Amino acid sequence: MTASLATVAYIGATILFILSLGGLSNPETARRGNLFGIIGMAIAVLATVLGPRVTPGGYAWIIGALVVGGSIGLYAAKTVQMTQMPELVALMHSLVGLAASLVGYASYVDTSTVFPTPAEKAIHEVEIYVGILIGAVTFSGSIIAFGKLSGKIGGKPLLLPARHWLNLVGLLVVIWFGREFLHAETIQAGMTPLIVMTVVALLFGVHMVMAIGGADMPVVVSMLNSYSGWAAAATGFMLSNDLLIVTGALVGSSGAILSYIMCRAMNRNFISVIAGGFGTGSGAPAAGAGGAAQPAGEVSPISAVETAELLKDAKNVIIVPGYGMAVAQAQHTVFEITKMLRERGVNVRFGIHPVAGRMPGHMNVLLAEAKVPYDVVLEMDEINEDFPQTDVSMVIGANDIVNPAAQDDPTSPIAGMPVLEVWKARTSIVMKRSMASGYAGVDNPLFYKDNNRMLFGDAKKMLDEVQAALKA
Ligand code: TAP
Repeated sequence: MTASLATVAYIGATILFILSLGGLSNPETARRGNLFGIIGMAIAVLATVLGPRVTPGGYAWIIGALVVGGSIGLYAAKTVQMTQMPELVALMHSLVGLAASLVGYASYVDTSTVFPTPAEKAIHEVEIYVGILIGAVTFSGSIIAFGKLSGKIGGKPLLLPARHWLNLVGLLVVIWFGREFLHAETIQAGMTPLIVMTVVALLFGVHMVMAIGGADMPVVVSMLNSYSGWAAAATGFMLSNDLLIVTGALVGSSGAILSYIMCRAMNRNFISVIAGGFGTGSGAPAAGAGGAAQPAGEVSPISAVETAELLKDAKNVIIVPGYGMAVAQAQHTVFEITKMLRERGVNVRFGIHPVAGRMPGHMNVLLAEAKVPYDVVLEMDEINEDFPQTDVSMVIGANDIVNPAAQDDPTSPIAGMPVLEVWKARTSIVMKRSMASGYAGVDNPLFYKDNNRMLFGDAKKMLDEVQAALKA
């Protein structure tokens, strides 16, 4: 393939990536968006492999790498549970970071490129230094995020004394060694500053994500998504590959926009998220995700049959799904119940919190999979005012996103986070297995409200019973 044909293919792939991102912004066009992305990526890979910069001797390596990487990816995609997706995504971000760092080192030791001027050489070295820096932060930060999302590392933020000073010292060290690196006469001399910077960057990535509290993890997921994009763009600069630069920038900027949206959803300022600490404040007890909450009153249990009776008699019902619905894989039964109630003339709608579940759009994906019509699935801001006119709000495996303490208790670790006001309905029903806390590890006063009922049990099992009672 000639260089000009490869360039045309790259432009085509770029357009497809932009169309893909546009499509993914809406559930109804997401499938098409995905297709554009797949076609764009296929064109990009083919144009690169068949392009002028790959010599025939390299094909065996490329095919070998494709077979190994493709098989691992295929296996992971086939075996991963929906609830493990955020961990998988974090792990994949770490690989982008690792790749950027390794490409940086490879570019540095590669002596085959001759630079016509010292300025061009210096620019290339800056690209290498910055690329390895971003890659290393992304790599170690994503590994820690993987640990936190999979529960292997606790959600409690690690708040070292003088942690902001530590970060500042790290930054100064990176700048100082950057200068040393650019002034190095030989590759051997440049290696020491490069390695020191890499170690500092790895430690910074660990420190940054360790300092972020459980409730801020949604922002971390999207932030690392953005970092992985910038790491890919940096790789593109190192390899002088325009497509990689553009694609990396698209991922980087869309991840940054997602981080902004997540921050708004949590009513948080991006800088204070990075500074860490939110999610386990000093006031209320934070039990740790799934930990036993302090009993703060009496709860009123309800049976599946009584729940079905309440639903039958209702005119307006709002269902609020959360992480527990994903764990129980209860979305299909939720759809069946919705269909039955709608056939009876009940107005059933869904209220989706922006950080419900464990990844952006988690609930939308599950409900779409179960074929719940999009027009009854509403965002938090669209539906929150309707709870006072609602007969029954049914919370399925959600906890933090319906916690009134976020509004009422300024000492709560999640104070200020917008929540779905389910308690304003005539009756709220919370479906979960126990009194355990949610991801942020805080007790939920909703459970003790007079108009709240607790339907204890696995969401799928309970909903099956509700469905059977509705049929009877
Ligand atoms: P959570 O607050 O985590 O609560 C989920 C509840 O589901 C738990 O209290 C659990 O109680 C219940 N549950 C678990 N398995 C269940 C099952 N099989 N059947 C019934 N219930 C079950 O979830 P949420 O309300 O969706 O809030 C999301 C939280 O995750 C927020 O704190 C958010 O910040 C955080 N987070 C979100 C993201 C993104 S991007 N969305 C990423 C990382 C973290 P039992 O154990 O008693 O059943």
